[in-house]
Amino acid sequence: MYTAIQNVYSKTFNYFHKTHAYLTKNPRLFLVRKLARFEVLRNGIHYLFKNQKESEEISQFNHYFFENIDLDIINSSLKENGYYSGLNLPQYIVQEILEFAESNICYGNRDPKLYFYLSNKKQAEISNGKQFIVGSYLHNIEKCPAINKMKTEPGLLAIAAKFLEARPVHIASELVWSFPVSTEWIEQLNLAQVFHYDIDDYKFLKFFFYLTNVDMFNGPHVCIRGSHKNKKFLHQLIGLRCANLDDKKIVDYYGAENLVNFYGPAGFGFVEDPFCFHKGTPPTDKARLFLQLEFAINNYKDIRSFK
Ligand SMILES: [Fe+2]
Repeated sequence: MYTAIQNVYSKTFNYFHKTHAYLTKNPRLFLVRKLARFEVLRNGIHYLFKNQKESEEISQFNHYFFENIDLDIINSSLKENGYYSGLNLPQYIVQEILEFAESNICYGNRDPKLYFYLSNKKQAEISNGKQFIVGSYLHNIEKCPAINKMKTEPGLLAIAAKFLEARPVHIASELVWSFPVSTEWIEQLNLAQVFHYDIDDYKFLKFFFYLTNVDMFNGPHVCIRGSHKNKKFLHQLIGLRCANLDDKKIVDYYGAENLVNFYGPAGFGFVEDPFCFHKGTPPTDKARLFLQLEFAINNYKDIRSFK
């Protein structure tokens, strides 16, 4: 009985402590995370931010990497389904990013203390006494010229501008390996390998590209078609904490027929409204290298903190 009371007390204390830190360090992000979970509120607030004129200006583009982009088709798929797939990176860019990945330091389980080169992964795991589930290049990604160019790629910016109805701001990018290792549920929860949705602005989007071939055994990204809108009220209310729910319950509610597994060769890309329920599947065969680029209307910084 005494331990149960202590547990409740410590959980309540932690909650208020975390909320206080969050509110004082980044009040704007705090507000977004509280309000944007509700569809009515985020649509209303987005209306205040949107600037149709600026988004139209940016839609007139010359491509660097992507040809034959049909902005209307992409935008209507994003609005209707919550995603669009079929943005393919040229093979010379895939090669450039793979070479970068092999010759730069990455960080086991996103921990800055667990750094290693891909060729030394086994030794790094042994010397740290830990298996790496993921390996992210974290801030080192900024050293990759091909990825830097993608942040200003006119085709991607035009897609983002049309969807956001405002001038897009690049707010984050990550280049990350997922390794085929067996994991506990708690590890999957911490590494976004369970169904969840993100709240980084009132409207934002993410571009994803595979740099290795991905089939059902190599960790496909999965989303639930249409779940970016008309969410169950409980799922709006608990926001990011939906990640704690059982995946099966989420799939049962939105329908197994709406599960979309993204399979494709190295270079295959897609774009997603991150309010759509999604997850990365843990690979069971080969490691997967994945690039994600995120654009929003506002940059609140620290979007990886305070989750
Ligand atoms: Fe996510």
